Amino acid sequence: MRKLTEEEKAWTDETLKKAAQKMMVVTERNRGIIPYTTKNGRFDDKSGEEITWWTNGFWGGEMWQLYKLTGNEMFREEAVGVEEKLDKNLMITEGLDHDNGFKWLPTSVIRYRLEKDPESLNRGMLAASNMAGRFNMAGRFIRAWNNWDNVDRRGYAIIDCMMNLPLLYWASEETTDPRFRMIAQAHADTAMRDFVRDDGSVNHIVVYDPFTGEVTDTLGGQGYAKGSSWSRGQSWGIYGFALSSYYTGDKKYLNTSRKVADYVLSVMPESFLVPIDYRQPQDVDLEDSTAAAITASGLIELSQQLDEGADVYLDAAIKLLKTLDENRISWDFETDNLLNNCAVDYHGDGHNMSIIYGDYYFIEALMKLKGNALRVF
Ligand code: GLY
Repeated sequence: MRKLTEEEKAWTDETLKKAAQKMMVVTERNRGIIPYTTKNGRFDDKSGEEITWWTNGFWGGEMWQLYKLTGNEMFREEAVGVEEKLDKNLMITEGLDHDNGFKWLPTSVIRYRLEKDPESLNRGMLAASNMAGRFNMAGRFIRAWNNWDNVDRRGYAIIDCMMNLPLLYWASEETTDPRFRMIAQAHADTAMRDFVRDDGSVNHIVVYDPFTGEVTDTLGGQGYAKGSSWSRGQSWGIYGFALSSYYTGDKKYLNTSRKVADYVLSVMPESFLVPIDYRQPQDVDLEDSTAAAITASGLIELSQQLDEGADVYLDAAIKLLKTLDENRISWDFETDNLLNNCAVDYHGDGHNMSIIYGDYYFIEALMKLKGNALRVF
């Protein structure tokens, strides 16, 4: 990866400084919560009845990155608080799924890496063991979700899962037992074959027969339609395959990340404001800033691992982040969130909102540019 220019360095430092100053005030007035989104500019709290919600690790991760940046103890205390609150989730099997990675990587695993706390190790291993137990031997995939609303999801796998595999890579490193890594790689190989299309676009959901392992369907999921290109799914693909490359050293995953990235850059709007789906109708202006932030962080991960051709990905990452900074961030201290214009999915009504993982990946990406990021994923 090339070095940042003086202008890029100054912008990165200044933007991180603004983020830290704002989040100091925001965190101070929101002690003890686990936010997901905002209502009238103020965070909600998922630490009660909704403790199993899949995004509940990201606030902890944001707190750890800000602690690394500032050394302010308040951020560490909040991060540890999130981790401890998640213990309740460890006793609710229906609330455990492939997203164990999103919950316990930014909380227990990162804390264990930093502080070697034995309770964090225990939590991380419980989460990893549960996730490994979701592996389907016939289809060689990790089952994504549980059944709710009477939908049979025994054969569902989703592109997002690529981001959760580092929990399994970590468990193998920690225990020296290769089982976890073998499961992660088997899933990554299946995803490379069945999710990534020839042009580098990806399916959100692939449905397998859970007994034979045959592919029975592909679904548009949170994107526009079957065969479309959900932008957050694309970003999970870029970042997730680059992570499997990082943890295994196998270049086929890096090449796959690059293929997905090349597709995304080929369909990126000139504005660098990311649509919910790269194949949504042209007269629709629905946007998803989370996809922009995740794509940026994923592109930096990719460019850090490339020996040649890395600059195009780093340039695009910086442009995505600057576009967010200039157009899609509430920098005032009264509003709790950073990113605006985030979206849950194409067809639901969760549009033009804030979502916590958008903020997390924005800060993570900036920390990577500064060369100061904690490796959470
Ligand atoms: N992992 C679910 C989502 O990206 O919305």
